[in-house]
Amino acid sequence: MFQLGTHGLFLAALSLVPARISCSFGSVPDVPDIAAYFGTKTRYEEVKPNLLRDPLTVNTSILRPPPGELCTPVHLTAVIRHGSRYPTVKNIRRIHRLSEIVQKDAARTSESSTVWLQELRKHWEQWFTEDMDGRLVRKGREDLQLLARRLATLFPSLLSEENMRKRRISFVTSSKHRCVSSVEAFQDGLQQHWGRQDEAPGYSHEVDDELMRFFERCRAYVEGVENNRTALAEVEKFKHGVEMEAVRRRMAEKLGLSLHLLTPDLVEAAFFICSYELSIKSIHSPWCFLFDESDAKVLEYKSDLKQFWKRSHGHTISSLSSCPLFHHIFRTLDKAGRPRRSTDAAPEPASILVGHAETLLPLLSLLGLYKDQTPPTASNYQSQHGRSFRTSRIVPYAANLLLVLYDCQRGPRLQLLINETPLRFPDLQEDAPLYRDVRAAYRHLLDGCDFQRECEGRPEGRGPNTEL
Ligand SMILES: *[C@@H]1O[C@H](CO)[C@@H](O)[C@H](O)[C@H]1NC(C)=O
Ligand SMILES: *[C@@H]1O[C@H](CO)[C@@H](O)[C@H](O)[C@H]1NC(C)=O
Repeated sequence: MFQLGTHGLFLAALSLVPARISCSFGSVPDVPDIAAYFGTKTRYEEVKPNLLRDPLTVNTSILRPPPGELCTPVHLTAVIRHGSRYPTVKNIRRIHRLSEIVQKDAARTSESSTVWLQELRKHWEQWFTEDMDGRLVRKGREDLQLLARRLATLFPSLLSEENMRKRRISFVTSSKHRCVSSVEAFQDGLQQHWGRQDEAPGYSHEVDDELMRFFERCRAYVEGVENNRTALAEVEKFKHGVEMEAVRRRMAEKLGLSLHLLTPDLVEAAFFICSYELSIKSIHSPWCFLFDESDAKVLEYKSDLKQFWKRSHGHTISSLSSCPLFHHIFRTLDKAGRPRRSTDAAPEPASILVGHAETLLPLLSLLGLYKDQTPPTASNYQSQHGRSFRTSRIVPYAANLLLVLYDCQRGPRLQLLINETPLRFPDLQEDAPLYRDVRAAYRHLLDGCDFQRECEGRPEGRGPNTEL
């Protein structure tokens, strides 16, 4: 029997006791209206709202080989971000500082102040502890279990029990605890799908940080971007710019705090508490009331600016650092799509790669996705409302890039999906173009994109291809 888990139970409870909810909280909806703006701290459900009704919803029409051509999926590569997690130590310390400041004179909170403000100043208990440091939460395990179950429904011949038992599906993960827990949860989800959750799990995966944490091994990236303050100058400027200042002033007023106590980092910490209480505990935190939708859009933009300049199109080296993963994926696809004699071993049906937002963003950027005409900067917030680069949509918890290789009458075809939604490769006109056309579009990367040369400045790489 399928279990709803904490989140589903919470929603179920809500729908059973509307009277109680409405008298204690007024007409507060269960999900804060700023929930879709949490950047990399956004729940997957905000991107796929259908899942709130049924987390196992699968719409097979997202698989789109050409309607007139007979095609069967032969391989799935999935690059998946870990699920919902606790804050890391840096943010936990900020949360502590913020709650101390806000609750300092709690006793003086007027009885006439709003319910949420009394709640926040007098009753909210600080529950984050440093040992939580970025670990996967229970909801995060569910994120991956449910994703696995939906993918197993979509690709029954690839994510099959037999393929699993014969260890033909490969599982690779980053060494971080939250990723290892995620790859295990994914395998649990498959077992649940086959009705085998009672058996000993027998997880199998390989840890590979060269593939999944390439960003910390690329010297040119670490020196040129990660440890280089000027590389993120736009973020710093925006942090102290007019839009952020207005958010900060409004928050200080609502709390009755003097402005100098409330740094931009603490403003962000309050926003994050709202996000964490939703994603971890499925509750509508009183901290959320400090922000309206326009404030949330400003804070989202601040986090998008950071990801853009640190992990994406802002600096070419950020995307080039993902070359090892790019080549690994295309080598896998090449092998899976190669014509076979009946005596050859069957191709690998699926490759599951679990990492971070920092793994996905450079790779998506390298593939040329989400690249807007005008880069986001500290001074063009007003003209960026329609940007495609929105981390809340691209890299929520459990974000995933799926590459589906089909065997079709005219040859192999490849379809790209982001978060279970079809997306076209730049400059290609079909949902599932011929694989050889995809290879042609990325020819410059397939023949280059050399980690040694880009990251270590060595003239000749050890990769399989060298540029002419
Ligand atoms: C499935 O998705 C298609 C669009 O991709 C949509 O038109 C259709 O209504 C969806 N079906 C269900 C049952 O949600
Ligand atoms: C730091 O970033 C700036 C701006 O992108 C760049 O001009 C400079 O060369 C970088 N410094 C190093 C040491 O890479």
